[in-house]
Amino acid sequence: MDAAIVTGAGGGIGTAVAHRLADDGWSLVVADRDPVALDRLVGELPATAVCEAVVGDVAEGDHHAVLVEAALDLGGLGLSVLNAGVVLPGLVWELPETQWDLHVRVNLWGVVHGVRAALPVMVDNGRGHVVAVASGAGLVAAPGLSAYTASKHAVVGLMESTHHELARVAPGVGVSVVCPGNIRTPMPVTSLAAAGIEDEQLSPVAEQVATTIRAGVDAGAEPATVADAIVDAVAERRFWVLPQPEVALGALDRVQRIVDGRPPVDLLG
Ligand SMILES: NC(=O)c1ccc[n+]([C@@H]2O[C@H](COP(=O)([O-])OP(=O)(O)OC[C@H]3O[C@@H](n4cnc5c(N)ncnc54)[C@H](O)[C@@H]3O)[C@@H](O)[C@H]2O)c1
Repeated sequence: MDAAIVTGAGGGIGTAVAHRLADDGWSLVVADRDPVALDRLVGELPATAVCEAVVGDVAEGDHHAVLVEAALDLGGLGLSVLNAGVVLPGLVWELPETQWDLHVRVNLWGVVHGVRAALPVMVDNGRGHVVAVASGAGLVAAPGLSAYTASKHAVVGLMESTHHELARVAPGVGVSVVCPGNIRTPMPVTSLAAAGIEDEQLSPVAEQVATTIRAGVDAGAEPATVADAIVDAVAERRFWVLPQPEVALGALDRVQRIVDGRPPVDLLG
């Protein structure tokens, strides 16, 4: 079997995806910026798993070239799951430019680089699948999360365009975009740490949004739900992956409001 790349594999959803793919017999190239989290994952995987771990930053194009090379060394590139992401709360005009930049670099460029590294190989082979983990925030919008929402909307659009391009030039190669709702992971905490932000540095509104996000995530679905949905979508060659039905209902309500000319609903209200 070909190898699969998983970025952000040291975190909640990425770790679940890596476990599920290892259980399914994939050789793995697992990547994360956090070497400790990556070591923990590698230690947890079954002893029989074939796995190469690469520490690096998804915002760097060269990192993705290394991941593709590692997959080819393991026998071939069959799947790439571009999952690494960050979320930082704040009003659109208050969020510092460095934090805007982090969202764009990690959430958008992290996918753009990954797609551009994997698809030339897959198109040449005439087969393979790239999965981008976006978010429900790629289909609807919440206050206090403008940078996250903008980056995830961009990922959804990017993957939809890519889907159409592949249908024209390489129909054997597939892509999917994943739009989870709340999933129980340490993301709100790891993202603040990645940006070097302490809780007390947040503005009052950002603090309020951070608290709401943490409560939502703590009550969210298990990361394995997303991993299972990804595996099913790749097997079925399905583009849209919405592991929780409420996300689709939210998107439907948004479109209905667009059609009716009614104002958008405040999802955190
Ligand atoms: N948890 C949720 O409720 C939720 C909901 C919708 C979408 N998502 C998306 O799922 C994906 C995974 O999120 P998660 O909840 O597992 O978060 P997480 O914080 O548990 O895991 C994310 C991983 O990405 C890594 N990472 C962050 N920046 C990186 C970089 N520049 N280079 C390489 N690795 C980097 C982190 O070290 C971490 O291990 C993200 O794209 C996120 O936006 C999460």
